[in-house]
Amino acid sequence: MSQFIVFAGKGGTGKSTLSALTVRYLKDRKLSPILVVDADPNFCLPELLDINITGTLASVREGAMQDKPDGMSLDEWLEIEINRIIEESEGFDLLVMGRPEGSGCYCAVNNVLKRILQEISEKYKYIIVDNEAGMEHISRGIISKIDYLFIIATPAKSSIQSALRINQLVDELNLSSKKKALVINQSSGKIEGHDELSKIFGKIVYINFDDKVKSLSEQGGSIFSLNSSAVVIKDFYKFLEEEFGR
Ligand SMILES: Nc1ncnc2c1ncn2[C@@H]1O[C@H](COP(=O)(O)OP(=O)(O)OP(=O)(O)O)[C@@H](O)[C@H]1O
Ligand SMILES: [Mg+2]
Repeated sequence: MSQFIVFAGKGGTGKSTLSALTVRYLKDRKLSPILVVDADPNFCLPELLDINITGTLASVREGAMQDKPDGMSLDEWLEIEINRIIEESEGFDLLVMGRPEGSGCYCAVNNVLKRILQEISEKYKYIIVDNEAGMEHISRGIISKIDYLFIIATPAKSSIQSALRINQLVDELNLSSKKKALVINQSSGKIEGHDELSKIFGKIVYINFDDKVKSLSEQGGSIFSLNSSAVVIKDFYKFLEEEFGR
């Protein structure tokens, strides 16, 4: 059974960086096959994972309205196109969702898409989802299963508030995960309210601020080029090892 690892949190907290690092970790540990889903309209995982993409789920959805040949069924066409845009790399595949749908009526397409995505996901051991801050794909049911929920925040109060709101939304949608953690990224020590937050999230993980990560994003490098002595790797791998190492 595939395990869904979902990253959520306010903008700029480190969701994409930590999603990409999880890909690197699972790949290193040979815990494949892995499907990575970039669910942020401003996708950046292709660059972080060093992959060129040829299309997004959004372009397939639009194409279903315009490009599908008359003699072909919607199911058949969507299946071919989705498989075409899933990029295969060594140890993992990448699917980019792209921007939200336009104003047309996409219900029929979306229903078929959900079914095809479910079938595709069954082929993988782990599915890593890098969400956008608004959790749109989760609230619209495109992502309907969460096994591991990692809510990323910085030590800023507004960021923790967002983490609490996301936690509440996931509860309201009855998407309770088997494992959950609040990840305080770019941290410099224990946050105020640690004990109460621990009770709410079950687990709090601290990842230190790391200059190497900052310069990586400034230069536009991939996560695989990050030196394995980087602080963020040491901190986050320790946590991942606790979750997936046994
Ligand atoms: N531990 C860290 N130390 C230093 N910088 C970090 C750390 N984690 C992430 N960053 C930097 O913070 C910025 C935001 O990170 P990232 O893009 O991963 O966040 P995000 O939550 O995916 O943002 P968005 O919501 O915009 O997609 C990037 O420049 C990244 O390099
Ligand atoms: Mg991101």
